[in-house]
Amino acid sequence: MLQATAELIERKAQGASQELRLHAPELARHLSPGQAVLVRAGWDLHPYLRRTFYPIAIAAETWTLRVPPSADWGHAWLRAAPPGTRLDCLGPVGHGYAAPAGVRHLLCVGEGELAWALLPAVVQADAAGLVVTLAAEGRSVRDLIPVKRLPVAVEYRVATLNGRAGHCGDLTPILAELFGWADVAFAAGSLDFYARLATAITTARFGLSAGFAQVLYTAAPLLCGTGACGACAAEIAGGRHRICRRGPVLDLADMVDQTLRVSR
Ligand code: FES
Repeated sequence: MLQATAELIERKAQGASQELRLHAPELARHLSPGQAVLVRAGWDLHPYLRRTFYPIAIAAETWTLRVPPSADWGHAWLRAAPPGTRLDCLGPVGHGYAAPAGVRHLLCVGEGELAWALLPAVVQADAAGLVVTLAAEGRSVRDLIPVKRLPVAVEYRVATLNGRAGHCGDLTPILAELFGWADVAFAAGSLDFYARLATAITTARFGLSAGFAQVLYTAAPLLCGTGACGACAAEIAGGRHRICRRGPVLDLADMVDQTLRVSR
């Protein structure tokens, strides 16, 4: 893990959220989709705790973070930081998504704002020649990644509560079809979302095998990112583990019994 200074070089509004593109060549070179970066969001040591971000874009010399609408003081500071601001960053934290060799069909499944963390994986997998489907659900179309942000070859399936885009409600009715098609799945969402995915996978594939579904664990705070503070510890795979070391991307099969209380 590196401690790097990233320079804010571009800010874009995306609905009520902001996207900040940061120039940090060494950090960008080491980043993989799904890995976290802890950013100091204030002058000096206030606020003391860094804010956790999962990049929504990774390029050769830059990476992009997304600041959602929130009442958080650190997020507010980032929204107001002028171009040229130099941000102190720690990263990459932990392990990200990784498509095993020989995989052909990749399914990415996301819930609400967290679906943005899948975007770099979608882009990289498409560039590597995989057949990629992204499925996302949100309250309204404003919660979803705009289709223009995806590579043209990516199939995009969506569900919204009001049905104005894609399916009405959530993705549940099409999950069995999608999981039956996929060789491997990446997901980003809440623990309740993962419990629904585990149930759908068990139905579609007659069981949830290790290695099939990789999920981003965001339920625990990442405070130090080094394994020192213990704040991110969670019950995973029969024991208590630090998410910043073992995750933040985990095998869904390691979470079903203790974390999600779903049988496979
Ligand atoms: S964030 Fe401190 S131990 Fe994981």
